[in-house]
Amino acid sequence: MNGPGSGPGNDRGNDRGNGRVVRGAVLTYRDDPAVAGPRRAVRFHRRGAVVVGTDGRIAWRGPAARLPERFGALPADDHGDALVLPGFIDAHVHFPQHRMLAAPGEDLLDWLSRFTYREERRYASAGHARAAAEVFLDRLVQHGTTAAVVFSSVHRTAADALFAAAERRGHAIVSGKTMMDRNAPAALRDDPVSGARDSEALLGRWHGRGRLRYAITVRFAVTSSEAQLRAAGELAAAHPDCHVHSHLAESRGETELVRRLFPWAADYTDVYDRFGLLGPRSVFAHGVHLSERECARLHEAGSLVVHCPTANTFLGSGLFDGGRMGRAERPVRVGVATDIGGGTSYSMLATLGEAYKVAMLTGRKPTAHELFHLATRGNAMHLGLDDEIGTLEAGRWADLVVLDPTATPVLEDRNALSESIEDTLFALAILGDDRAVRATYVAGRIAWRAPAAARP
Ligand code: GUN
Ligand code: ZN
Repeated sequence: MNGPGSGPGNDRGNDRGNGRVVRGAVLTYRDDPAVAGPRRAVRFHRRGAVVVGTDGRIAWRGPAARLPERFGALPADDHGDALVLPGFIDAHVHFPQHRMLAAPGEDLLDWLSRFTYREERRYASAGHARAAAEVFLDRLVQHGTTAAVVFSSVHRTAADALFAAAERRGHAIVSGKTMMDRNAPAALRDDPVSGARDSEALLGRWHGRGRLRYAITVRFAVTSSEAQLRAAGELAAAHPDCHVHSHLAESRGETELVRRLFPWAADYTDVYDRFGLLGPRSVFAHGVHLSERECARLHEAGSLVVHCPTANTFLGSGLFDGGRMGRAERPVRVGVATDIGGGTSYSMLATLGEAYKVAMLTGRKPTAHELFHLATRGNAMHLGLDDEIGTLEAGRWADLVVLDPTATPVLEDRNALSESIEDTLFALAILGDDRAVRATYVAGRIAWRAPAAARP
């Protein structure tokens, strides 16, 4: 596997790839704190160490005082009191929207037609897509995100460009060419045959290659004909180890439109279901406007609904009801994501802060451990990637984020009041963003280091 890219902040000088010890306040989750309770779920070593092997995987993790002698001679990055966590996993983000944040739409459909499609048209140029892929991956690591489920554009060459850049950098990426053959500008439309053919070609080329995985990607029911949904379902049946990635029930206007476009369907979820797109590897962004029947069916299918709080508030789509999703008799799997560029921050810290506020507005009060678990082990488990990423157990990829709880004057003041590691995490979720990211490691190599940070 090759090293990280050469964008700003990347540091090949320290990128020996020969194994190293990363020291700091090491925190990881062994279980879901909401289920097992924090005592059983959290592993925290205030003076901890993570040993990275030459293969980019974690060789050992524990209290620094118990570092096995055989690792004693390895070079060390000592991050002092900063937190060392598993890198964040963004479960839904749009690569061709990487620079179009803060576009002021009236609602989702207006935002798509007025700003988003215009920007995505640029990705017809392979050169543009190649350059954008580098910037996009730089943005992820600058914000401490080491793995992501990524929407690309309709263009096969753009998906190729993203996969190639991710492979060069050793990133774990689940992505795919977007299928969309109606209700969009002609320049962004494929057709049922070419959409399936291009998807299959990309899938054959990239799925399972290194850390890359393919997602059969339907933009949303609005932009696919029945013929295209059928073709996507056939592809999913032929490749059950691939993910399916789409949007579901984000806004009221969209949900109404789907009702009109598919009058025979029981509801929005039923559209995907009837075409074989509902399964344990299906990832649906949003799920703000779901009926009880849809929740029960999503539970039964084992599909993942991804909460994108900054996008939902920014586009005025509605408040995601996490409590309702988790109902004991039919819990729906829930992940968390930025949804750039409908979302307003690349930072999973800022995203967790917004998720907390949305939860408070819907009668729930998640703990900091629940939030951080969701952005790491939780997303990994829901995506079926937990044997590879999401924790700091030996054998997992050494994808790490180093967070400085005193990164800004406001954080520094607040941190002085923190009485526990959970309190420190809570302040980071509410007040933190990319400024708190001191360093990011992808497969054990430094992929980002904050310019002003003291060199370890
Ligand atoms: N629904 C269909 N396309 C999109 C998109 O690009 N962003 C968001 N947030 N929702 C969508
Ligand atoms: Zn989205």
